[in-house]
Amino acid sequence: MKILLLGSGGREHALAWKILQSPKVDKLFVAPGNAGTAVGGCVNVALKADDFEGIKRLVLAEGIDMLVVGPEDPLVKGIYDYFRDDTELSHIPVIGPSRAGAELEGSKDFAKRFMHRHGIPTAAYRTFDGTQLDEAMSFLETLAPPYVLKADGLCAGKGVLIVPTLEEAKQELRDMLGGMFGQASARVVVEEFLSGVECSVFVLTDGKDYKILPEAKDYKRIGEGDTGLNTGGMGSVSPVPFADEEWMRKVEERIIRPTVEGLASENIDYKGFIFFGLINCSGEPKVIEYNCRMGDPETETVMLRLKSDIVDLFEGVAEGNLGQRKIQIDERHAVCVMLVSGGYPGTYAKGLPIDMSGVQAGANTIVFHAGTAFNADGVVVTAGGRVMGISSYGSTQNEAMNRSFAVAEQVAFEGKYFRHDIGADL
Ligand code: AMP
Ligand code: GLY
Repeated sequence: MKILLLGSGGREHALAWKILQSPKVDKLFVAPGNAGTAVGGCVNVALKADDFEGIKRLVLAEGIDMLVVGPEDPLVKGIYDYFRDDTELSHIPVIGPSRAGAELEGSKDFAKRFMHRHGIPTAAYRTFDGTQLDEAMSFLETLAPPYVLKADGLCAGKGVLIVPTLEEAKQELRDMLGGMFGQASARVVVEEFLSGVECSVFVLTDGKDYKILPEAKDYKRIGEGDTGLNTGGMGSVSPVPFADEEWMRKVEERIIRPTVEGLASENIDYKGFIFFGLINCSGEPKVIEYNCRMGDPETETVMLRLKSDIVDLFEGVAEGNLGQRKIQIDERHAVCVMLVSGGYPGTYAKGLPIDMSGVQAGANTIVFHAGTAFNADGVVVTAGGRVMGISSYGSTQNEAMNRSFAVAEQVAFEGKYFRHDIGADL
C-alpha cells in the first residue's frame, strides 16, 4: 500500500522509520518532511500539512491508500472531516481524529469540560473571557501560588503561563484576555497548580478499542536540571520507572477508558492517537492536557519500543477492528537526546551545514532528523530550533543514554547544544 504522512519534525521521521519497517508498505510519501525523511524509501513532497487541496491532488494522483497525520494543526483544521466529506476521498482512511475530536487539544476549555463530564481527574479550573475580568480576578484570589493561565486555543506550545505571584498573575491574565495570543487567548483557563512528575501516555484508538503504547517522559526546559525557558522538548526516555503496573492500571481505569468511552458516548469520531499529558500527584495520575497526536520528542523513543507492525495497527483503526490486533512492546530502554540550534528557543541561525562524517552510530542508535533541510547544493543544513533527535536502545537506561550522548557529541554543526542530563533524574 501507499501511505502519505503529514508533518516535518522528528516525530514524523520516527513515524516514517517505523512505517517503512512494515511489509505492507510499498511507498511512503512525507509532506513536507525533512532531510531525514527524503531517504531510504521515502519520498518528500513539497506541500504544507494544512494545504488540504494540494493534499487531495497528491492523494488522487499517486493512488494513496492511507493518510497518517503527524501534527495537530491539520487535525484541528479538520483534515479528517475534509476526507470523510469528499466523495473522491471518503474511502481513504485518515489516522487522526475528526475536528470535533481534535478539540481535546484545540480548546483547553473543551478539554476541561470534557474531563468534568466524564469524571476524569484533572486540576480544578474556571474559564473566563474578556467580559468577566472582575470575576477572573476574584477567582485568582481564591487560588494558591503559583498560578496557571492557559490560552484556550492553539499557540504553538506557548499558551501556558505559570506565574509566581498574584500581582503578576492578574497582569498576565489581563494581557491574555486583551489579545496577547490573539484569538487563541480570547478565553483563558485559570487552574490549580499541580505538583509532581510528568509522564506522557499514548493510545491508538479506533473509537471503540484502544492499544496503549509505551509511556515516555519528555524534558521541556532548555537548561540542565530543568531550568530556563520552555522548548518543544529536549529529549525523552521510555519506559518511565514510576509508571509501573499499578500506576498504569489507575491511568487506564480512571483516564484512558473514560476518555475513549466518553468520546464514543458523545458521538465524536476519533480514529487516531490520543496523547495524555499526565502528572503523578503522590501516586495519583491527573491529566494536565490532552493532545490529538503523538508527542515530540516522545515518538522518537516510543517508536523504538513498539515491536508490532504499526501499519497493521493503523489498519485496525481504519477497519474498526483494532481490538483483534496484537501489540507487542520491546522490553529494552530507549533514550532520545535532542540537538538544538544555538540560541533556541530564542532566535537562532538556520542554514548551517551539518557534518555527520564523525558519526559512529551502531545498530542500537537511530538519528532522527527534525529541523533539517537540503540547501541548493544538496548539503544537509539546519532548518529549525530542534535539529536532530539521537535515539538509542539499551538494556538499561544508562546504556541507552550513553549511546545517545556519544553520538550527540559526534554530530557537528555550529552552535550545537544539547542537554547532558536527559534521563538523569529517573
Ligand atoms: P501545556 O502547553 O498544556 O503542555 O502546558 C505546558 C506545561 O505547563 C505542562 O507540560 C506542565 O509542565 C505545565 N502545567 C500545565 N498545567 C499545569 C498545572 N495545572 N499544574 C502544574 N503544571 C502545569
Ligand atoms: N512533547 C510534548 C508535545 O509533543 O507536546
